[in-house]
Amino acid sequence: MNKNDYMYLDHAATTPMREVAFEAYKKTEMDAYANSSGGHALSRKAKNILEESREFISSCFGAVPNEITFTSGGTEADNWIIKTPFVDQEKKSELTTTQIEHEAVLASAENVDKKGYKVNFVSCDEDGVTNIEELKQSINTNTLIASVMYANNETGVIQPIKEISQSVKDINPKTLFHSDVVQAVASNKIDFHSLGIDSAAISGHKIGGPKGIGIMFLKTGYKIPSLLHGGKQELERRAGTVNVSGVAGLAAALKEQQQNLEEETKLIEKERIIFESKIKEEFDVKIIGENVRRLCHISNIQFRDINSETLMVALDLNGMGVSRGSACASGAQKPSHVLKAMNVEDRVINNHLRFSFGWNIEIGDGSKSAEIVKNTIKEII
Ligand SMILES: Cc1ncc(COP(=O)(O)O)c(C=O)c1O
Repeated sequence: MNKNDYMYLDHAATTPMREVAFEAYKKTEMDAYANSSGGHALSRKAKNILEESREFISSCFGAVPNEITFTSGGTEADNWIIKTPFVDQEKKSELTTTQIEHEAVLASAENVDKKGYKVNFVSCDEDGVTNIEELKQSINTNTLIASVMYANNETGVIQPIKEISQSVKDINPKTLFHSDVVQAVASNKIDFHSLGIDSAAISGHKIGGPKGIGIMFLKTGYKIPSLLHGGKQELERRAGTVNVSGVAGLAAALKEQQQNLEEETKLIEKERIIFESKIKEEFDVKIIGENVRRLCHISNIQFRDINSETLMVALDLNGMGVSRGSACASGAQKPSHVLKAMNVEDRVINNHLRFSFGWNIEIGDGSKSAEIVKNTIKEII
């Protein structure tokens, strides 16, 4: 849909594919379509694209190529890291995570819990920042994995990841520290090693790459069981014909994103601030995470007296696409587990909308978006 006809502010759910990513995807699909595991020239061509992409992608995160395994997305990477290390573990092994994780981590943690392992779900404060003292108390010699997201997908609130990873290692240096960085990479440069991250989940479609491609980062020295069994692809870590076109698209998207990151995020932040201030001038609202570190592309707004479902539907009719929170949870009129963990009152918990901006933002989008919201609210109250 043309950007002038519909204001898409749901980039945290997925962002449009960058032209360069689409071209790289198409070119690979047309010119290097062979199975990258085959033994002929066309397979070698595909394999070269795969390995060159791996090398480039790893360098974007301060990693080495062997630390990168391609997956079908962030969900698979999170499931893999959280669940498989518990296979064949002694029952005393534990998992620590937080109450505000994406469903991909939360549901994986619940699966571990169901298998009889102790899982600690650490709380957060009213701004959505993890309670570090509580997290420290949950770590012990049995902690196999600690998983804390870099930034939340519903609120954009950023966690002090380096301090958290350090706290975990100070108590148990053997604990694998996992971080879901899916949302954070959309607007941040991340270096895994310097942040003390041992494993991470990344998703292609949040940065302008294709859907159905992601990355599982695992620091050299760690080994985890395979999630998928079958062929010996991806250094025998993940079975299944590799999505080379997806990988090429992801590498191309990342290249453009990294080159333009400063410029893109500056404009996103500027327009988001204009948007928020215009909404605040007019209505009784609360901007979530306003006083803490937050991803520049996410604005979660609490409208004191307006139901989010009603507003979301009305905005859609007026040409704006937003979301109530995580894409996986919307549709079901269930209060957000993230806002619940932040102690948002029941009276207003269903009055939140997430407006998320993306790489294709243009000057003036902040004011234009605020105007649509203002007119829509006036229609429905
Ligand atoms: C924080 C976070 N983790 C994981 C995921 C899942 O990623 P994917 O859609 O690639 O499976 C998402 C997507 O919404 C996300 O925002």
